[in-house]
Order: sequence, then structure tokens, then C-alpha cells
Amino acid sequence: MATRYVMSIDQGTTSTRCIVFDQRGHLVSVTQREHRQHFPRPGWVEHDAVEIWRNLERIGPEALARAGIGPGQVVAVGIANQRETTVLWDRRTGVPVGRAVVWQDTRTDALVEELSRRPGAEAVPERCGLPLAAYFSAPRIRWLLDHTPGLRERAESGEVLFGTMESWLIWNLTGGPDGGVHVTDVTNASRTLLMDLTTLDWDDGLLAFFGVPRRMLPRIRPSTETYGTARRVFPGVRIAAALGDQQAALFGQTCFASGEAKCTYGTGGFLLLNTGTTPVRSAHGLLTTVGYQVGREPAVYALEGPIAVTGALVQWFRDGLGLISSAPEIETLARTVQDNGGCYIVPAFAGLFAPHWRSEARGVIVGLTSYVTKGHLARAVLEATAWQTREVVDAMNADSGLALRTLKVDGGMTADNLLMQIVANVLDVPVVRPMAVETVSLGAAYAAGLAVGYWADLEGLRRNWHRAAQWSPHMDPRLRTAEHDNWRRAVERALGWVR
Ligand code: G3P
Repeated sequence: MATRYVMSIDQGTTSTRCIVFDQRGHLVSVTQREHRQHFPRPGWVEHDAVEIWRNLERIGPEALARAGIGPGQVVAVGIANQRETTVLWDRRTGVPVGRAVVWQDTRTDALVEELSRRPGAEAVPERCGLPLAAYFSAPRIRWLLDHTPGLRERAESGEVLFGTMESWLIWNLTGGPDGGVHVTDVTNASRTLLMDLTTLDWDDGLLAFFGVPRRMLPRIRPSTETYGTARRVFPGVRIAAALGDQQAALFGQTCFASGEAKCTYGTGGFLLLNTGTTPVRSAHGLLTTVGYQVGREPAVYALEGPIAVTGALVQWFRDGLGLISSAPEIETLARTVQDNGGCYIVPAFAGLFAPHWRSEARGVIVGLTSYVTKGHLARAVLEATAWQTREVVDAMNADSGLALRTLKVDGGMTADNLLMQIVANVLDVPVVRPMAVETVSLGAAYAAGLAVGYWADLEGLRRNWHRAAQWSPHMDPRLRTAEHDNWRRAVERALGWVR
């Protein structure tokens, strides 16, 4: 019998990737295609959902061809996706209503502020585990319904549908003349502000508060389950998993036990801690979210600390300031000096996410003297990622009552050895990177493979995890404390520096 594989789709903020994995969790082939970022106004970020679908139509078959296999050899497809990004489309034609509004888009800031003053606002975090913030989907749906003539009526009659990216792709993959399957998974639903965290269903009180009609919403399903069979791109293959990309990375890093955590460093940074089958409510500015749900088993929850800007600061250093010509050069430049020269950068480009949740904060560079060189600035750029991670870890330790013992990392920035060493130093815990760095895609593949019996259980997946690198902390505790104080004072400046 021909060898069988799992196909993973990672629909991310900047590109879409298809990866074929074999049973040992090894990558067999990969294809990728970027899509355009639309910035129609300051603070607005949009994607063309049709462009993203077309990219998948192209790179899906390419990934199969590169692996030298046909769809018949693929046991299942799993999807990981950029979360919170909001797509509305016409049920009959499948055509999107305008562009998708991306998770980075801040157009709903004023709406969120207004909503937060209304009666019922205080109940929102308790129900869904999230603070009322522009980062999540519900205010975007509301904004679109308010600003597009006739849209609310069409949504109320069930003519217009809402989905995050996995929902949009499943609809299209399973779609025939009468449309496709309209589902989302618990992890993505837990990012909308509309799902009750304990019943795992849309909550009528939250729907009423945000003014979102239930008829436009997808059915919420477990993260691993056969949602339907593809009619397009991978004809005949079961679509058997979906997870938000950060939850997929938690799964791919096999953080299956309570107390295990991972941080993915990309444009932003996302630290998730598995807290087991009971949601832990945060009193320190973190999100309570669903980590995953395997079939009909109880959902596993996570505490999450999203950091809006990590790799994006390196990009700004490269493109905005022109001080380096490629991102990896930041490490070389930072190594030209011993320390930050007294300089700290807080990259609050569009406010600060966890644990502050202050959309009006703006970035600052403090401590400048004529002594400071671009090498010191480069070091301050790397340290900004490390200290932001420390803020999230401190909040997690306080919320969970546990002390983080080790941090699993992944994502593009983990290639920077100096950065990883600084993270270990400021956290004072070892930082470990696995051999399989494609943890988002691997997590989606694992989930799909589990759903169809390609992999037997979580323990088997755990055995696939192998350590590639470890950074152990070595920093004088007094220096750590002094630097931490300086960082805190810099953050105070950013919080005080409002637009
Ligand atoms: O919450 C947003 C996050 O899911 C985006 O991840 O990797 O697509 O930038 P990424």
C-alpha cells in the first residue's frame, strides 16, 4: 500500500503555506505564497480573502506535486490560521463582503471605548475570558454591520455569514453549488468575544451586547473532528482539524500537560501556558483561551500573553531606520557591544497588548546619550522582546500560582542565538527549541492525523518532540533586577505617551 501523509495548511498574517508531513512528523514538502497587505487608512489593515483562497488553490496541488504524491495518499487536512481576522461573505454566491479586517486593525478603538462604558461591559471578560479590546473579532463584525448599508438585514436573514480564516477556507474547500460547511473550531471561537468559555457555545448575552446576529455565525466544533470532505484543491480528502495558529503551535510543541508553555516569536510574540481542563481566569492582564479540544474530550484551556510587536521591531529597525539591511544582521550588530549603553526601546507602535491592554500607548526610546551607538540600539531592540516576554511570564506565574520552569520557543526569531540567550537571562529559566521548527503547521497536522487515527494518541506525538538547542540563564541577579527596573520605568513612559 502507498505511504500515507497528512496535509497542513497554515493561513498566516503575511502568507499561506502548505506542508506535507509523514508519520514521524517529518516535513516532506512545503509551498508558500504571500498575499497583499492593504492599508487603506492609518491603523487599518485588510486582506483580500479571495486572493488567499486562490493562493491555496495554487500551492495546495504544488505541495502534493513536490512530495510526489496524489490526494489519495493524504489521510486528512488540518488548518492553522491567523486568529481574529474577520471575513463576511454572501452565503449564496460565496463572495466576500469587502475585504477581511485583520487582527492588527485598530479601526474599532473608538467603538470599543464606547462599548466599554455601556451596561453589561463588566460581564464580558467573565463570560468569554477576554478583555474588551479591539484585537478580537466581535467589534469588527459590529463595525462592518454598522458601516455597510443593508448588511445588518442580510446578516439577520442568514444571507451573510461570518468566519475567521479557517472557517472561510473550510467553506471553500468543502463547497459545492449550494455552498460549503460553515464551521469554526473552539480555539478560533474563543477569540471572538462571543463564546462562553465554559459551555463552548455562542452566548446570547454577548451576542446582544455586541449586536451580532446568531444566524451569521458558524457552528462551533472541536479542534479535531472531520468537518467535511474537500471537493476542491484536495478532492476526496477529509478536513479533520482546525486551530488558531498559536494554539496549533502549543499542540505542535506537544505542550499537553498543565504547566507546559511555549512562545512563538514572529511579527508579534505569543506565549501560551496549558492550564488543563479548567479555565484559569486572569487577574493580571492575560487572556483565558481554549488551547485545544480533541474530539468529544473536555476542552483544554490556556492562559495567553500576546505581545503585539516583537519581530516587527526588527523590521522597523531594518525598513524604518535602515540601520541593517536584513533581519539576521540585528544579532551581528548587537554583538558589537557588551550591553544596551543605558538605552531602552518600548515598541508600543499601536498600543501595548498583554499585560497592559492600553491601545493609546505609543512607543518610546529612552536613555539616549551621545555614547549610544546603533549597536546599543540593536541590543535594546532584542531586549525589548525579552522584557516583554518577562512581563507576560510574571503575569502567568501570578495567575497560575506556578513558576514557569522552562520555556519552549519557536518561530523565525528563534534563529537569533543572542536573543534566545537574553530571553533565558531575563526570565531566569532555560529556553529550549525543538528540531521541528514548523510547530504551527505540525500542530495542525497532528490534530488532523489524530482525528482520523493516523496517530494513536498524544503520548505518541510527544515522542516525536526532540530538543535542538537550549539556552541556560547566566546573568547576575542584581543586574537583572536593575535592568528590570529600568525597563519598567521605560514602559511607564510609553503608557504615559498617548497620541
Ligand atoms: O492573534 C494573531 C495571530 O494568530 C497571528 O499570528 O503568525 O499569522 O502573525 P501570525
